[in-house]
Amino acid sequence: MIVRIPLSVPDLRGREAELLLGCVRDNWVSSAGPEVRAFETAMARLTGRAHAVATVNGTAALHLALLAAGVRAGDRVIVPDWTFAASANAITHAGATASFVDVGEADWALDPALVVETLAGDPTIRAVIAVDPLGHTADLDALEAACASYGVPLIEDAAGAIGARYRGRPSGTGGAVAIFSFNGNKTVTAGGGGMLVTDDAAMAQRVRHLSTQARLGSEYVHDMIGFNYRMTNINAALGLAQIERLDEMVAARSTIAARYDSAFADLETITPMPRPGYCDSVCWLYSVRLPDEETARALVASCDAAHIEARLFWRSLSAQAPWQDASRRLRGVSAGLSGTVVSLPSSSSLSEPDQQRVIDAITTWHESNVGAEA
Ligand SMILES: Cc1ncc(COP(=O)(O)O)c(C=O)c1O
Repeated sequence: MIVRIPLSVPDLRGREAELLLGCVRDNWVSSAGPEVRAFETAMARLTGRAHAVATVNGTAALHLALLAAGVRAGDRVIVPDWTFAASANAITHAGATASFVDVGEADWALDPALVVETLAGDPTIRAVIAVDPLGHTADLDALEAACASYGVPLIEDAAGAIGARYRGRPSGTGGAVAIFSFNGNKTVTAGGGGMLVTDDAAMAQRVRHLSTQARLGSEYVHDMIGFNYRMTNINAALGLAQIERLDEMVAARSTIAARYDSAFADLETITPMPRPGYCDSVCWLYSVRLPDEETARALVASCDAAHIEARLFWRSLSAQAPWQDASRRLRGVSAGLSGTVVSLPSSSSLSEPDQQRVIDAITTWHESNVGAEA
């Protein structure tokens, strides 16, 4: 039987089982427990931020980041048109409205020049979310400068970019506040979970308070409407064990990416995802661009027939039903990426023989389909 190769799965070969067992043994399975604080401390150290607050998932962290940044009902928030829906959903959860801005052709991340144009033309913009796509960051310096000149906070959605470095500084250092996701397909997973990092003590305190039902002390007294957004100690234990192996897992994904890069270098219809010069990418999800959606779907189907999971990546959000009426500033880049970017198996545990199976499947598909037409 041929075993199916998955896209991106957890790599639990370190102390994960040991730390999880400790949670059960010591009766720390809910949202109190030593691993939550230890995971927060590890993430603050990793990013060089003064404070980290663990949350139930990345979407919750983004929701809290928006509230802590001062976003209120009726405000608008800039978000890239090409991102995971969570980035825009969190804006609606905060009572605000998404203002979609295109990404750049060179980095597939929020285009700073278009952000400036949008800020200049819309005084209702209250925050900007920069998304780090596929394991590299957005152009943080340029986006920070744009936001600073309009007095608007920048939030870095570094959901999939843990370990990346922008001009030498870690991902998660962009703007006033940044968030990470630890869902199952990320380089570092906590089963599910998120983390908000900031240097602002008051913001961290407010976020922690909001994430625990805005409860004052241990009695049932509350001073505002809060949320149940805390991470459990079980998730934190998993995340903590994973963080210990971050370098090893990033190195494995980077090796896979380098191998795919060289294997596909001569396949003219396949363009690897960008690795902008300003960033050391962690190549979270190795993805390639095809000339059109039909070709991209043919590649996915061919991989599927070879028992390999490949998947079309993000699509323009403003083109989708929930955001039909949202304002937008687009130049066709996000539309062009929609349906043409295919993600390939990238798990840090992917064995060399399985990497070769992926390479063989793609080169064979290329020879028999694209090569035949040339
Ligand atoms: C760019 C981006 N933002 C936010 C999220 C939300 O994270 P979570 O799934 O942990 O809620 C994701 C999740 O994959 C993501 O890719």
